Amino acid sequence: MTQPPAGRGIRIAGTGSSTPDNTLSNFDLEKILDTSDEWIQQRTGIKTRRVVDQSTGAGTISLACESLANAVEDSGIDPKELDLVICASVTQEMTCPSASCRAAHHVGATNAAAFDLGAACSGFLYGLNLADTLIRQGRYKTIAVIGSDAMSTVLDYTERGVSILFGDASGAAIVTADDDPSRGCLYQSMGADASNWQCLYLPKREVDIPEADRDNPIEMGKLRMNGREVFKFAVKKFQEVIEDALENSGVDIDDISQLICHQSNLRIIESAREKLGLEKDRVYVNIDRIGNSSAGSIPLCLDELNKAGRIREGENVLFVAFGGGLTWASSLWRV
Ligand code: COA
Repeated sequence: MTQPPAGRGIRIAGTGSSTPDNTLSNFDLEKILDTSDEWIQQRTGIKTRRVVDQSTGAGTISLACESLANAVEDSGIDPKELDLVICASVTQEMTCPSASCRAAHHVGATNAAAFDLGAACSGFLYGLNLADTLIRQGRYKTIAVIGSDAMSTVLDYTERGVSILFGDASGAAIVTADDDPSRGCLYQSMGADASNWQCLYLPKREVDIPEADRDNPIEMGKLRMNGREVFKFAVKKFQEVIEDALENSGVDIDDISQLICHQSNLRIIESAREKLGLEKDRVYVNIDRIGNSSAGSIPLCLDELNKAGRIREGENVLFVAFGGGLTWASSLWRV
């Protein structure tokens, strides 16, 4: 999509998030894995992550419910005004009902349609871009987009190559039609290339495992990743989608107040920041505290920035993500 349709603007009316209280630090991981705090910090920038207490029933749904409730409260919008609730996740607990139905019920969004969306770590931006398009079209007025992932539930903690990266979190944004047509998503892009899907996947059955990965010791039902390949893809793709968004929107990099990247690895984020020549305070980072929380990552960053008063009306914010599939997305907003 190159130009947003004229006539109707969109604003981010409110944001919310939820992170579990339990932390899992690199030092905790040192006790169960052949790894070190130094190795993890050097390669990823992560110091600690949040993990749900599964014994209490906490997980993707409870995180989604709480982040949506926070976003509704922040927006001041009556939940009955929500037309649609979209929840992006790669760790759905139940396929029926969806996490979005449960979250909609939790906040009393009795007039909303609801569905879940699967695009791995790009999922929240897929949802946000879809919400923008539906609102601009005029069919919907107010939409809640949630990203929620309890990654700790799909990790094999005997395997050091994958488990050190991820944590649990959820974030949500409520977007609504606005009279000012200059506000909202100025440019969006989404893509997928499944030729390399084996780089990052979550097998449910033996048959899901490619021949070349049959000897991998990671437990069935747990996330598998070829970190090196994903790293190369991510560095290249971030650069491409950022350049594409700037070029096609006509917005200059100097006019981007915040670049919000999926929190996958500090080195990947830093590579994008350095190539663009951006100062550190224009590229948000919380991976040191949270780890990679998949679909929860970007909306959590957005909520933390918003609550800190750093999402200011009239400024441009560029979101970029990549993830399993392999998928990617960008979304450039004048907020
Ligand atoms: N602690 C200590 N050593 C580790 C380790 C750990 N947690 N994980 C792997 N190693 C070892 C490997 O066994 C390997 O040892 P060897 O050289 O003796 O074989 C060595 O460290 C290098 O492994 P490699 O996988 O090449 O490391 P890396 O520099 O690529 O870092 C990742 C690994 C996972 C941190 C990095 O590839 C990465 O972040 N990739 C992107 C992943 C990502 O973003 N995924 C999410 C997508 S949304």
